[in-house]
Amino acid sequence: MAIQVVKERTRGFICVTAHPEGCQRRVAEQVAAMRKAAPSPLEGPGRVLVIGASSGYGLATRVSAAWGFGAKTVGVFRERPPEGRRTASAGYYNSAAFHRLAAADGLYAGAVNGDAFSDDVKKETVQLVRKELGKIDLVVYSLAAPRRTNPETGETAQSVLKPIGYEFTSKTIDLTQGTVTEVTLEPAEEDEIVATIDVMGGEDWQAWIDLLSEERLLTEGVRTLAYSYVGPEVTWPIYRDGTIGMAKKDLVQTGHQLNDMLAAQYGGGAWVSVNKAVVTQASAAIPVVPLYLSLLFKVMKEKDLHEGCLEQMRRLALDHLAADKPPRVDEQRLIRLDDLELRDDVQDAVMDLWEQVDSRNLSDISDFAGFRKEFSGLFGFQVEGVDYDEPVEIDVRL
Ligand code: NAI
Repeated sequence: MAIQVVKERTRGFICVTAHPEGCQRRVAEQVAAMRKAAPSPLEGPGRVLVIGASSGYGLATRVSAAWGFGAKTVGVFRERPPEGRRTASAGYYNSAAFHRLAAADGLYAGAVNGDAFSDDVKKETVQLVRKELGKIDLVVYSLAAPRRTNPETGETAQSVLKPIGYEFTSKTIDLTQGTVTEVTLEPAEEDEIVATIDVMGGEDWQAWIDLLSEERLLTEGVRTLAYSYVGPEVTWPIYRDGTIGMAKKDLVQTGHQLNDMLAAQYGGGAWVSVNKAVVTQASAAIPVVPLYLSLLFKVMKEKDLHEGCLEQMRRLALDHLAADKPPRVDEQRLIRLDDLELRDDVQDAVMDLWEQVDSRNLSDISDFAGFRKEFSGLFGFQVEGVDYDEPVEIDVRL
């Protein structure tokens, strides 16, 4: 037992505490939204493995598979359990909440908490999948990691968020001060580009699928998905054309190779889904993106188009993964869930605000307050119905 009052302690784009009750409520809200969208489970993938399942898009994918299709799920993630007076990480509390809610609804949920890049975690996952799921219909690769230790070489690659070929200066938000400032990012060195592709490219996705196939854990018709982002031109130097963009190109290329293999061997397939920009721990860390998100939220909320992770993953599940709805793709074979974000009227309005925004008008012409609330919500703070002066049990276990 470790009951204590938990306060939000944010440093820049990271919060070092997490609130178990706030996290529980946020996961319960996602479950309720998914239940509403699919009051009785639809026909679709029934045995699902999500790699990167404890927050952001991976968690929402897991919720939409479990409550959309009644799927048994295994989640792989790397999260810190509670220790003494130190709270667990938010993803740990999210996963504990997911497991509780799933158990209450008779849905199997299994977890492997450790480094998804390592051989040990892959082996442990294989054992758990074999024991509890038998085989898998859908593998979703939703990792957002800062570094990767290659199990073959033992070397650790560190990903960077940098432009390529030129210095890039842009408006951004100083999250600590809540002001609009300028950031200048130096171009990446060649070895930083290679390292970012190593961490966030397709190699590890391929390793997972190869292993699951070797272990005969994939069903006839198996599908696998990974996630990417394209976004508008103001973010291209740091995203689409930057180091992370190179890693995403590699991921897309891997998707094509996996698609050929899965189609030939299982009559299945592999796709990359391009999702919209949302507030997650990963996206909040990218320079420029929090300012863009604050403006985007303002515009999309005004147009009644706003979507978070769950709304996006609900669309993915219902429109592209249900048994009667094969994935619909663009000319590059990408699933596009960023259609609303990239609509001309949305982007024109965002770019108009982008030109105008400064520290004085930030709170008027952007939804920085909405961004902040979402950011706090990632860690279980600023969640309606939670009394943050009340002590809570932080020693919650998976
Ligand atoms: P997130 O930060 O919310 O979640 C990352 C997940 O990866 C967590 O479950 C974490 O535990 C897990 N993870 C990280 N390192 C790990 C490791 N070594 N071993 C096991 N698990 C590990 O991230 P988010 O934003 O949901 O990103 C997921 C994917 O979606 C990424 O591919 C990202 O590029 C993509 N995406 C994100 C968008 C956004 O706006 N956030 C937009 C479009 C795509």
